[in-house]
Amino acid sequence: MVNHLAIIMDGNGRWAEERGLSRSDGHRAGARQIGVAARAAMNAGIKYLTLYAFSTENWKRPKDEVTVLMELISEFAKSELPNMLRDGVRLRTIGRTADLPPASRAALEFAIKQTANNDKLTINIALSYGGRAEIVDAVNKIIAEKRTAPVTEQDFVSYLYAPDIPDPDLLIRTGGEMRLSNFLLWELSYAELYVTETYWPDFTEETLEQALASFGGRKRRFGGLNKK
Ligand code: FPP
Repeated sequence: MVNHLAIIMDGNGRWAEERGLSRSDGHRAGARQIGVAARAAMNAGIKYLTLYAFSTENWKRPKDEVTVLMELISEFAKSELPNMLRDGVRLRTIGRTADLPPASRAALEFAIKQTANNDKLTINIALSYGGRAEIVDAVNKIIAEKRTAPVTEQDFVSYLYAPDIPDPDLLIRTGGEMRLSNFLLWELSYAELYVTETYWPDFTEETLEQALASFGGRKRRFGGLNKK
């Protein structure tokens, strides 16, 4: 059973290029697909959906592309809010979100507050997120506390961005690349991986069903024997 699904939404650029469109058009199409993925996840009984929308490395992309992505994030938070309220969806973010432009932060914070009591599905958007940055930020919180007691793995989790969210069971990467790209390095330790050639703007409920069917056939042993 997949309780927490994480997705690397890759392939917007290639989807657009193949159609003679701009990369920004690809991101626009990708942003529209988030609603499709969220509904499919809800239908499958998934409780947490973490989406890699913008990495710490994505700031190096051309300024225009970064601007479009930041606008899409504000638009998403505003336009999807009524749907999230109707469907019982909670919005959260992880990452160095203080780096985002004030307008994007404000739209996100408003939607996060408005949806704080919803619990049917949590959409957790990774923004200015890096797995290494998350671990470094956790270490720096520990240093700032002047903590001297040794840290267990369980203690360490409490310093991560979303300690109360259980680890992902399944990671889907669209766009065919076989890498983690600095996503949830701590949390994905025991996740099952599923890579599809499908570009993110072409992601449908059927893509999710195929990934879930593949997950259903896996034996998860968590490093031990016979554990399910
Ligand atoms: C990777 O495609 C995708 C991204 C860097 C951004 C993902 C963003 C969205 C789906 C839309 C905006 C987000 C929200 C939350 C509204 P790529 O450009 O690297 O594709 P390529 O590998 O084909 O070039």
